Amino acid sequence: MMWTKKKLWIVPLGLFSLLLVYGIIGETAWGDNSKCLSCHQDKNLSKKDDRGNKVSLFVSEDQFKKSVHGNVACTDCHTRILDDSHASKGVKKADRKVDCGTCHEESETKYKTSVHSIKAEISCKECHGHHYVIPLTDPKSATYRTNLIQTCGACHSEEGKQFSESVHGVGLFRGRPNHPTCTTCHGTHGIKPRTDPESAVHERKIAITTCPQCHAAEQITKEYRFTTKPVKSYYDSFHGLSYRGGDTFSANCASCHGVHDIRSSSDPKSMIHKDNLQKTCGVCHPKASINFAKGKIHTLADIKGTDFGEKAVGWVRVIYIILIVSVIGGLTFFNFTDWLRKTIDRKP
Ligand code: HEC
Ligand code: HEC
Ligand code: HEC
Ligand code: HEC
Ligand code: HEC
Ligand code: HEC
Ligand code: HEC
Ligand code: HEC
Ligand code: HEC
Repeated sequence: MMWTKKKLWIVPLGLFSLLLVYGIIGETAWGDNSKCLSCHQDKNLSKKDDRGNKVSLFVSEDQFKKSVHGNVACTDCHTRILDDSHASKGVKKADRKVDCGTCHEESETKYKTSVHSIKAEISCKECHGHHYVIPLTDPKSATYRTNLIQTCGACHSEEGKQFSESVHGVGLFRGRPNHPTCTTCHGTHGIKPRTDPESAVHERKIAITTCPQCHAAEQITKEYRFTTKPVKSYYDSFHGLSYRGGDTFSANCASCHGVHDIRSSSDPKSMIHKDNLQKTCGVCHPKASINFAKGKIHTLADIKGTDFGEKAVGWVRVIYIILIVSVIGGLTFFNFTDWLRKTIDRKP
């Protein structure tokens, strides 16, 4: 009791000095940014680039503070600009180069292997923006599922346009969580050219992972009208068997359905609409007649099948199996008895 009463004054004093220290640190950290912002908050601040075009040098303090980097110092990114000496033009030219990888090493390492880094030499900011990066989960983020059509589409306009009209794109815009967006098939930071065997959309992967990741997933297929049948039946088909055997001329999902413009068979613009099948198959079967493409493509031999054809083939298969088993079984039995007979006969 005595001890606490006497030394109690230490507590508020300690708290006060802690607050003071915290305040000073906080003030200086933000103080650095306010120094930069004292000039860059001016909406009219601009310069002329090498081509003589006017570029704004305005940074919105409000928007910057709300970004994921709101607590980062300007100079943590702009490591080559430490003071305002760059302001007096010509004295020391400002170097605007920023290395995002100092804090995002993992993303950068992966990114350095991608076509965008190697061939296109585009920087992080082309997809993420720079000063106003908001959380990825925010529907307004440039990299949010639905916004990728525009972000990637800014440079890949043909793919973006086709995709937004496809059965996948239409579903995506309706807010469905199971429809693909650009990065579902292509990946994000490690995107490779489609001819690279490591590409997620390499020709050898399309019918193994790219499309089956959803079309063979029981959980997803149960939610929609479609089934896992197309994938299963494809693997049993002429095309599937030779594709899996390594035949690069065989048809994979994309050869018949397209890639970014995939549509339902009931859509007259679809590659698999009955009126377009002759053309679709004709790419590889030039002599294909109208009748050639008439049969159903995705059929399984199944006695519980959805139509007469599947059931008939299913029953034929069952009868075949019974026949094979009884013939081979009969033969084995015959040989066995024959052998038994001969062994008994040979005994003295
Ligand atoms: C005294 C006002 C002032 C202050 C303070 C100031 N700047 Fe600048 N800044 C300018 C002006 C003026 C330019 C345009 C210079 C030019 O024409 O090349 C500029 C240009 C820049 C550029 C663009 C360079 C380019 O090539 O486009 C960056 C980045 C920049 N400043 C960052 C900062 C950072 C970070 C700070 C804080 C450490 C800061 N500035 C502080 C006035 C200022
Ligand atoms: C997350 C990293 C990051 C932070 C933090 C950051 N910047 Fe930048 N800033 C960039 C990038 C990236 C560019 C574009 C560089 C380029 O064009 O290659 C840029 C460009 C600029 C430019 C040129 C105009 C423009 O918008 O392209 C100015 C001016 C600037 N920054 C000022 C600031 C100021 C002031 C702060 C602090 C309030 C700040 N920056 C904080 C990354 C950052
Ligand atoms: C071609 C567009 C693109 C480029 C270029 C790009 N990113 Fe990304 N980034 C994305 C997408 C898309 C996501 C994933 C968003 C999601 O999963 O919701 C992402 C996610 C991230 C994340 C969150 C963590 C993660 O990996 O999911 C970080 C951090 C990141 N990027 C940093 C960077 C850096 C640093 C660079 C440059 C070295 C860069 N990005 C270049 C598109 C890009
Ligand atoms: C000084 C360190 C630093 C630098 C440099 C930096 N960032 Fe960040 N970045 C952060 C921090 C801190 C976060 C917040 C992490 C968190 O919320 O978990 C973050 C988060 C992110 C996120 C993920 C947001 C989310 O919702 O998960 C992206 C994307 C991102 N930064 C992109 C960039 C880009 C692009 C650049 C270069 C222009 C860059 N960063 C430079 C520190 C940095
Ligand atoms: C359902 C999976 C899927 C989705 C979703 C998807 N792609 Fe693709 N993409 C592919 C496949 C598969 C290929 C390879 C086609 C080939 O080999 O001919 C490809 C090829 C590409 C190519 C190379 C085209 C060429 O001819 O060189 C680009 C660029 C591309 N996609 C961008 C995008 C963009 C942008 C989006 C989003 C708007 C997107 N993709 C959405 C599967 C997809
Ligand atoms: C700033 C422009 C830009 C943005 C944004 C961009 N790309 Fe690219 N992309 C390119 C360029 C340039 C190439 C290289 C084309 C070439 O020379 O082969 C490329 C290559 C590709 C390729 C490989 C094409 C092939 O040869 O098979 C794919 C796939 C791709 N991008 C998908 C995407 C996706 C997905 C996004 C969004 C997450 C995206 N891109 C965002 C410019 C961009
Ligand atoms: C992210 C999961 C996902 C991926 C990857 C995916 N799909 Fe789909 N796909 C769906 C969903 C979900 C639907 C249901 C569309 C609807 O009914 O709105 C669908 C619909 C379809 C349809 C139309 C079905 C119908 O009954 O109208 C075809 C054809 C199709 N996809 C083919 C493909 C092909 C080919 C690929 C690979 C290039 C592919 N899908 C990749 C999820 C996916
Ligand atoms: C040889 C061409 C061909 C190949 C290869 C092919 N399909 Fe199909 N697919 C069709 C045709 C034609 C239809 C129309 C219905 C039918 O005939 O069964 C169809 C129907 C579908 C449907 C239902 C769409 C609808 O609107 O009825 C889906 C989903 C589907 N295919 C996915 C796939 C997937 C995933 C792959 C790869 C594993 C694949 N297909 C490979 C030609 C093909
Ligand atoms: C990308 C090229 C390609 C496309 C598109 C394609 N096929 Fe084929 N198809 C092949 C190849 C290669 C073989 C030979 C496979 C084997 O038996 O080894 C084959 C074999 C066949 C066979 C069995 C052998 C025969 O010639 O009678 C039939 C039936 C067939 N395809 C029907 C179709 C139909 C119907 C379509 C359109 C819905 C179609 N194919 C689209 C490449 C293709």
